[in-house]
Amino acid sequence: MIKIAPSILAADFTRLGEDIDSIKTADLLHFDVMDGVFVPNISFGLPVIKDVRRVTDMPLDVHLMIKFPGKYIGKFCDLGADIVVLHVEAEEPWEIKKGIREVKAKGKKVGLSVKPGTPVSELEPYAESLDHILIMSVEPGFGGQGFMPEALPKIEEAAALVNRLGIKCDIEVDGGINRVTARQCENAGATILVAGSSVFHAADRAEEIMILRGN
Ligand code: DX5
Ligand code: ZN
Repeated sequence: MIKIAPSILAADFTRLGEDIDSIKTADLLHFDVMDGVFVPNISFGLPVIKDVRRVTDMPLDVHLMIKFPGKYIGKFCDLGADIVVLHVEAEEPWEIKKGIREVKAKGKKVGLSVKPGTPVSELEPYAESLDHILIMSVEPGFGGQGFMPEALPKIEEAAALVNRLGIKCDIEVDGGINRVTARQCENAGATILVAGSSVFHAADRAEEIMILRGN
């Protein structure tokens, strides 16, 4: 069964607790951290994860769209992240490797993400250590964008890499996921779908989560 990770970037921050409660049937909570440098937008960070951790026991899937993530990995882990996803474009290879080691040393799951323009092959040097591969199906920085179909062969390529290596690694897809693209991504090999707008803008969020799961 494919897993659904609603992105709180699409939530109403004046009622974040209620919004999180409204999607508690989902599998993970996706947390889009943006620094205005790595991506042209600023979202939220450490104080928010600290408070969100107090109100939910859902796994927190923290997507770091920030330059120099290595400086903040430990803090996100200590404040309650269950999964920390770095961008392969954000740092030098030795820093990415160091970040991966740090997340695992904290007992958390680690993921690596590629932007639409970055080939999946960039992940190969790290793949054996990963619990998640995050394929961006939009340019990172904003919710509500249209799904980029060129992500589909990248999902297939990531799934083939995971199979070839014989590792247990989720293939997560992020951006523009709706009732149509959810099935396309699942057929291509996705195991987790991030969904912001399609869940939080739905009249019945629990029902939308079920539909995206393919129920
Ligand atoms: C974009 C974020 C995505 C985005 C998803 O940079 O990484 O997680 O919030 O939002 P939707 O589902 O609305 O495309
Ligand atoms: Zn994201």
